[in-house]
Amino acid sequence: MKMVEVAQSILGERLHNTPATSSVKAFAPTNIALCKYWGKRDQELNLPVTSSLSISLGDKGATTIIRMSSDAHDHVSLNDQEIDLASSFGKRLIVFLNLFRKTRDKFDIIIHANIPIAAGLASSASGFASLVKALNELYQWNLSTQELSILARLGSGSACRSLWDGFVEWHAGVRADGMDSFGEKLQATWPEFCVGLLLVSEKEKEVSSREAMQRTIETNAAYQRWPEKVTKDLAAIKLAINEKNFELLGKTTESNALMMHAMMLTTQPPIQYSTPETLALMQKIWRLRSEGLPVYFTQDAGPNLKLLFLAENKVVLAQNFPGMEIVQPG
Ligand code: DP6
Repeated sequence: MKMVEVAQSILGERLHNTPATSSVKAFAPTNIALCKYWGKRDQELNLPVTSSLSISLGDKGATTIIRMSSDAHDHVSLNDQEIDLASSFGKRLIVFLNLFRKTRDKFDIIIHANIPIAAGLASSASGFASLVKALNELYQWNLSTQELSILARLGSGSACRSLWDGFVEWHAGVRADGMDSFGEKLQATWPEFCVGLLLVSEKEKEVSSREAMQRTIETNAAYQRWPEKVTKDLAAIKLAINEKNFELLGKTTESNALMMHAMMLTTQPPIQYSTPETLALMQKIWRLRSEGLPVYFTQDAGPNLKLLFLAENKVVLAQNFPGMEIVQPG
């Protein structure tokens, strides 16, 4: 099934709605995967091979303001920089916007992210999720959050988890049209749970996660073991959240990220997001842990680390990692 058919089947008659003349605004949080989404069963619809689970970062994320353009062109800016609509991200954005508008509709879109987007600290998740929420307002679609999650996934897979606060599971689903592949908020909360954002580099990554996951599937036989690993890790992480077992959550999350990066290192050609500084930080985290401090990390498609710890250890972690931004999402 094609993207346009998915949009049509969700929106139906609402595709003919007249857009508002005033501007609308929507926010979506960024999310950090504790159990990663790595690999697609459908590249056009961003349907994943496995389910995944994330934590949303409260007020850290992206705000999108959208209004109809006064000239015959689209204008999109991200943190006050005009996006080149001929760039690969720009083209992706246009393909996405074309799903929802009549040809003559052009947009002015202003996106502000309060977290570095391309450095793997945040994926494009909060951008696409806030854009879908803003379009829902602009065209008065009145869609459910689950339907918005499916549409956000068409922009970027991980965006389908950014429609909710707290812990969110993205169900992989089995259907070819992806109508059963969306996020779902877990009921459990964990107010003491903290995420520390450790910025190693803000430079844009050379290999996109889209390309890296595809290369992993195509060239690494070890990927066969990934679904089994995710099934186990997902169950352990959900149990850990329900029982507030921080050690189980930390060790499972860290091992899940390390396997994802190990697979990337052994693809052809290899992909390495870690820099010497990333590796030194990992060693420091392992040393602190061996000295009795419960701290773990996760890493996405970039050199930066996200530390996981409980609020009771905030002060000591801030001392050990000066400059680290601490988010307590619950
Ligand atoms: C490592 O959602 O950015 O952050 O669907 O191709 O847009 P596309 O990929 P994207 O990949 C995120 C990968 C990850 C893991 C995760 O967030 O689950």
